Amino acid sequence: MKKNLGAQLALYPSPLVVIGAMNGDRPTWTLVAHTGIMSHDRLMVSLAQAHFINDKIKAAGKLSINMVSEEMLPQADYVGSVSGAKTDKSEAFEYEMGENGVPMIKASPLSIECEVEDIYEKNGFDNFVLKFTGTYVQEENLTEDGRISYRNMKPVLFEFPTYEYLRTGDVIGKCLSFKKN
Ligand SMILES: Cc1cc2nc3c(=O)[nH]c(=O)nc-3n(C[C@H](O)[C@H](O)[C@H](O)COP(=O)(O)O)c2cc1C
Repeated sequence: MKKNLGAQLALYPSPLVVIGAMNGDRPTWTLVAHTGIMSHDRLMVSLAQAHFINDKIKAAGKLSINMVSEEMLPQADYVGSVSGAKTDKSEAFEYEMGENGVPMIKASPLSIECEVEDIYEKNGFDNFVLKFTGTYVQEENLTEDGRISYRNMKPVLFEFPTYEYLRTGDVIGKCLSFKKN
């Protein structure tokens, strides 16, 4: 029998990302673990309304989602520990601008350029509904036929209950290959 722990936020691990937006002529960065896929062409990023970056995203109407690799975890953890309201985080990462004008982290293996389509406010959170307009992948993380290879990227995962970062593991099967058994 499983023990019922009551109503808990328990759907983990989740991929860890850094959200980027422009703050005037400098970028600002915020670490986020609560993201979602809403349909095959919309993503969602959930940000507490007290965060500094929210107003910057609303003003620009766009943001970047940058997957966190193990190499960039120290800086990613840092941008999740201080607020842009008090500390200028613009130099935490080297960056380049995407075609649609959002700052993207050079060291991140995968950056997604997004436009804000809608904001669903819920219990103190701005849930940004996002249309993606560009997907930027480091060459070494593409397969020979041009697909994104998450095996090489080693995206960092997060889990809330023990507040830890996890490493992704091995490939354990091909999707839809188990029905034969
Ligand atoms: C591992 C980790 C995951 C986080 N995930 C989220 C999240 O999903 N949503 C959120 O609103 N804040 C999240 N935070 C908190 C923000 O990153 C943090 O409060 C940050 O300093 C806010 O920066 P800002 O005020 O410059 O926007 C997370 C922090 C850590 C350390």
